[in-house]
Amino acid sequence: MDFLDAARSRFAPALAPHLPEGESVESFLDLIRPARDAQFGDFQANFAMPLAKRAKKPPRDLAAEIVAAADLTDLFDQPEVAGPGFINLRVRDDVLAAETAKLAADERLGVPIVENPQTITVDFSSPNVAKPMHVGHLRTTVIGDAVCRILRLRGHNVIGDNHLGDWGTQFGMILYGYKNFRDDAAYQADPVTELARLYRTVNTLSDYHAAKKKRPKLTEVVEAKRQAVADAPPPADKKAKKALSKLKQEAGTAEEALAAADAKIAAVEADTDLAALAAAHPTLAAESRAETAKLHAGDAENRRLWEEFLPPCLAALQTIYDRLGIQHDATYGESFYQPMLAGVVDELLEKGIAEESDGAVVVRDNVDPAGKPVPGPFVVRKTDGAFLYGTTDLATVKHHVEELNADAMLYVVDSRQGDHFANVAATARRWGFNDTDFRHVSFGTVLGEDGKPFKTRSGDTIGLESLLDEAVERALAIVSENDDSKPDGPELDANERGDIAEAVGLGGIKYADLAHNRESDYKFSWDKMLSTTGNTATYMQYARARVCGIFRMGGVDRDALRDRFVADGGEVLLTDPAERAMALQLNRFAEAVREASRDHRPNVLTDYLFDTAKAFSAFYEACPLLKAETEDLKSSRLILADTTARVMHAGLELLGIRVIDRM
Ligand code: ARG
Repeated sequence: MDFLDAARSRFAPALAPHLPEGESVESFLDLIRPARDAQFGDFQANFAMPLAKRAKKPPRDLAAEIVAAADLTDLFDQPEVAGPGFINLRVRDDVLAAETAKLAADERLGVPIVENPQTITVDFSSPNVAKPMHVGHLRTTVIGDAVCRILRLRGHNVIGDNHLGDWGTQFGMILYGYKNFRDDAAYQADPVTELARLYRTVNTLSDYHAAKKKRPKLTEVVEAKRQAVADAPPPADKKAKKALSKLKQEAGTAEEALAAADAKIAAVEADTDLAALAAAHPTLAAESRAETAKLHAGDAENRRLWEEFLPPCLAALQTIYDRLGIQHDATYGESFYQPMLAGVVDELLEKGIAEESDGAVVVRDNVDPAGKPVPGPFVVRKTDGAFLYGTTDLATVKHHVEELNADAMLYVVDSRQGDHFANVAATARRWGFNDTDFRHVSFGTVLGEDGKPFKTRSGDTIGLESLLDEAVERALAIVSENDDSKPDGPELDANERGDIAEAVGLGGIKYADLAHNRESDYKFSWDKMLSTTGNTATYMQYARARVCGIFRMGGVDRDALRDRFVADGGEVLLTDPAERAMALQLNRFAEAVREASRDHRPNVLTDYLFDTAKAFSAFYEACPLLKAETEDLKSSRLILADTTARVMHAGLELLGIRVIDRM
């Protein structure tokens, strides 16, 4: 049973008479938390202090009053009011034992179905096609998949949606590259690689021209900023000091911009072939844009090429999804919405939500649900008549709400697009989509161990495929070493080792990503992610395999054990503090799933799993399992072990991580 949730619903009516005017009970119920120290009980309620302050009452008296009014005793021992007004709750041992026995028989491991299931679309992964997937796509893919699985287990109707970038400006670049730089043999042999090469070439050349053009202006800015720093008098006070340091910072930023431009120029000029191409194609950026415009306008040849390019690109994506065990329920690429865009803009104009501005169409004065202005304006049609990324997102809202009946729309996209999604949601609300819950599930950047955005040594972004290969290769070394050092010699053949390495390597990458607070940037570290100790997939996979190993060692069939326990109405015996802690921890699975889904935070679940593994180690150390003193105790303890393995399995599965029984 989710005892935390039970405590919340038991306290809610008792808090009602003490709530300050106009405040909801929720924020006070959130002050019921797992106890930090088992010595003080299992849960602690800290709402009496803030409530007493508003009511100008002594907090301990108020705590006692609330405890007396709350209906708790069928679940908890008589609560204790401690310190300034903490309420300590301890689950009754008989209740804990009975609830744990129920878990053993429950396929859902105590996770309830939500009362009001919703239809929730989850936009995740959503790469721009015709460019190879890189490390930047990892977080959205892995976090989005876990978010879908967690919501689905809770009983929601989840539609994982791949909002493919299959219509963007990259196609103009590829079309230009295809028409001008194509290597036919390479394209026949492996279209995706050749298209990626064409994209890279056009991109590099267009960056080169842009850098050349910007350089004089950048040089001017650098000189002006440097001069300003040199001319500044020695700062006399704090304010002047601050101003000077700001100036220096601006000089630094300008220098960085100039250095970046120079690097782009050097990259081309150092390569005679590229330099020749650059000279021969001075207007390639504008011509690429023209190719995009032609595609969008329905040009037959570009349309045909687009249709030819798409399937191999999608197949390449699918290879990666299959390997990672990622599934989408729907793939509505950007191209799907193209026929709707003109209508979207017309409707926004008609309703007075959008306005013309210098030939473009924009939405101004958007505010978020708290009334805070969102940086704008939000452009929905450019001066040249082209529609934008955001226009497509608005069409998506209409489609998902009206055709898919979405109650909520989640966007698992990096934090830099925060303003964009705030504008999408604000515009959609003005447009009439008031009942839809729009949520940007944002995340930070993947950094290298040096704290800079994760790149290869030569400065390229890291391809996702090679990243996965490296993970599996490293995992194979670890798995082999572990197997070779087993006391009775290796147990696994090469096939098994390879399969386990795939699960460990990919699991390691996923878990490391999921275990971090999604909003923080996170440092990619092979050693940390594949470590066999600490909060890692490898550790969790080993921990679970070890529990399975206990059953193998004892020759116990887990299904038969469970069936017998259920049929006999077996009891869970709580004879030792570590045993009791284990039982409580297993009951907290439902709480972890609920809390992880609340603000879409898979790291709540990884933390929970790590704690579960630690609780099991302590339990295993303190309590003999196979050699327990009585048959009843043995069966009770084995049931705890079995439920632990099931919880770990279910938890890892929610994170999209494969489990292995023997490793
Ligand atoms: N394709 C976009 C990118 O690579 C991400 C799309 C996110 N989803 C959306 N509905 N805008 O940046």
